[in-house]
Amino acid sequence: MAGILISALALAPLSQAISIPSLPPKIQGVTTPLIQPLYDLLPALPILQAPLPPLDSPAFTPSNIKPKKVGYYWVGAGDKEHADFLATYSLDDDTFGTLIYVTDVPTSGNDPHHIGVSSDGQTIVGGGLLSLLKLQDTAYYFDVSNPYRPAFKKSNSALLSSIADEIRPKPDGGFFITYMGSALGTSPGRLVETDADFNIIHEWPEDVEGTLGILAEQFSPHGISIDWDRNYILTSDFVVPLSILKPSTGVIRAQTLRLWNLESRTIISTITIPGGSGIQDVKFIPGNPEGAAIAATVGSAQLWVIYPGRKDSNGNQGVAELIYDFGDTIRATNPIASYSDITQDGKYIYVTLTSANHVAALDISDLTNPKRLDDPDEVHPIVGPHYIKVTPDQKHIVVTDYFVQTGEIGIVNVPADFKAQYIDINDDGSISFNRSINFSQEFENRGGGKPHSALVFDFTDPEHPLYY
Ligand SMILES: *[C@@H]1O[C@H](CO)[C@@H](O)[C@H](O)[C@H]1NC(C)=O
Ligand SMILES: *[C@@H]1O[C@H](CO)[C@@H](O)[C@H](O)[C@H]1NC(C)=O
Repeated sequence: MAGILISALALAPLSQAISIPSLPPKIQGVTTPLIQPLYDLLPALPILQAPLPPLDSPAFTPSNIKPKKVGYYWVGAGDKEHADFLATYSLDDDTFGTLIYVTDVPTSGNDPHHIGVSSDGQTIVGGGLLSLLKLQDTAYYFDVSNPYRPAFKKSNSALLSSIADEIRPKPDGGFFITYMGSALGTSPGRLVETDADFNIIHEWPEDVEGTLGILAEQFSPHGISIDWDRNYILTSDFVVPLSILKPSTGVIRAQTLRLWNLESRTIISTITIPGGSGIQDVKFIPGNPEGAAIAATVGSAQLWVIYPGRKDSNGNQGVAELIYDFGDTIRATNPIASYSDITQDGKYIYVTLTSANHVAALDISDLTNPKRLDDPDEVHPIVGPHYIKVTPDQKHIVVTDYFVQTGEIGIVNVPADFKAQYIDINDDGSISFNRSINFSQEFENRGGGKPHSALVFDFTDPEHPLYY
């Protein structure tokens, strides 16, 4: 009932620490398409939660070790009543898995989502997938000038958009962050840009043509990749976030990517992948002579290469070509997530097939003939792998085994083992499972820990620290 919204809002003054996202401003011709879906859903919307502050955090023992390789995990408290937090761990061989520090945010139940680091390595940002439901901020910033003692810095939220997803740093400071939903969790989302002080300065697109375009065709930006040299941004459309929550007739998936002019932040074209059914991720291939990118489709379980400089037969800029099909066995798992990362030499891509509990490895040095490096039939010792990242030294991949569990309020509850995997990359690009950190065990006193994403800092060469 509408009363739920009103009573949740009435509770807000209980905590001065929480800033409430504003409702979108009224823009004639634009506001109604944003607001209408909420009115349509309100009568049966049981999903808003009281924005109560988190319970007191249990004590932990900080460690004074200073490993060269540091892993940062952005973690939800399993009980959704304790604070969500950034967990700092050693990834060095001799102290692997030692907890160094825990940095709380002043809120709970955000469903911590992706994480990113500023180009100077001084600031980490993590987004909250479901912050909106507790009327909380959607982006949480941490000062990591002391990398072994991250400090919570501030949080904020956008006016027009919510549901923070993937993050890319700007070379001169600040971030681009995809916000997959409108301020109400519907379509369209926005591409949020911050300044170097992490204030939101834009929610793209802002031109009339671009705004009409994203109102006309589902815009649910999740993946983002930027080619700073060729002046392109690619964003990939995944799902309408509100459609994962009840009442829902099913997850509303998209099959498009948007190609942007980086300099003007305007959308050049919409690229369609037939049958794409949710395109969670797109990544430019480092060093590719044509500036190509790879998009991982979720429902259809395929890899497509995107050539942003080519034109299709209709003169539309940006051409997508199928390069790999994971096959019917994967499609039969009813895939809900698929994420990827590519090595810096552009040779290998690693893809999590979340519903299949599998991590695929492919040699893509010849895009016309990708070679599968893992055994598709091998059972991997992993449940619900999602976020994936090649470490700065290119020797491991970090994978976090948690996607989304909405509980009773939604229709997406993907099994997970809540581990942070540290998987070895072998010389031929194939992978070997080796070490992991069990967040259920580590944070039992918060009802478990749900690690959604990770960053790795590498201080092996103190003159050239790497942040990724
Ligand atoms: C796991 O990693 C350690 C450290 O690199 C290595 O010594 C060990 O051989 C690896 N174990 C397996 C089973 O690959
Ligand atoms: C992880 O920790 C939980 C909680 O202690 C435990 O139940 C589970 O068996 C552990 N998982 C593995 C694979 O060790």
